[in-house]
Amino acid sequence: MSTPKKRILIGLTGASGICYGIRSLELLAGLDNVETHLIVTSAARRTLNLETDRTIEDVQELADVVYPIRDIAAGPASGSFATSGMLVAPCSIRSLSAIANSHSSDLLTRAADVTLKERRPLVLMVRETPLHRGHLRLMDQVVEMGGIIFPPVPAFYTKPTTLESLVSHTSARAIEQLGIDIPEINRWTGPPESNVQI
Ligand SMILES: Cc1cc2nc3c(=O)[nH]c(=O)nc-3n(C[C@H](O)[C@H](O)[C@H](O)COP(=O)(O)O)c2cc1C
Repeated sequence: MSTPKKRILIGLTGASGICYGIRSLELLAGLDNVETHLIVTSAARRTLNLETDRTIEDVQELADVVYPIRDIAAGPASGSFATSGMLVAPCSIRSLSAIANSHSSDLLTRAADVTLKERRPLVLMVRETPLHRGHLRLMDQVVEMGGIIFPPVPAFYTKPTTLESLVSHTSARAIEQLGIDIPEINRWTGPPESNVQI
């Protein structure tokens, strides 16, 4: 008997860095044991158009299931709809605020609230800078409720030479917070022998 696929919810919001959400979908599409369920806000459609050459159809094709943002009756709106967690990449301050306050007025924020209440992993790739105290408070509220705040802060120990490799590494690390292994991720294994400091 084959093991059932892990259902992962992916949310794309209107913060800068829609490429992180797209790359996350691409990485997950390469895994046999994962099924992706996508929710895109209308502001994310706008940034997709402003920041990339992709169409919404290109992005939706990467997912197994796509839901309209306004469909608050869709599966992910209920805790009885089993998932293995949710990644919002990128996550705007508006959506962060809605999630932190359980203001579940669209499917994305409702699905995130359900993920928290069911004690499933919720990873928010919050993107804004600089941050004022209100932003920090919202992030603190989400962490208190069990969510994971994962800002897209690049790692340089991998010596990235392209923007793509930098985006891939950050996206893979975010996905791993959901307990999903990305085999091709470049991992730190300690300094090269010649560089060991005693
Ligand atoms: C090009 C562009 C870049 C943006 N970057 C950010 C950002 O980095 N962080 C953020 O919180 N909002 C950003 N915004 C504003 C959000 O899109 C806006 O607050 C929107 O209402 C978010 O809605 P959503 O959470 O439903 O996607 C940006 C908007 C545009 C057009």
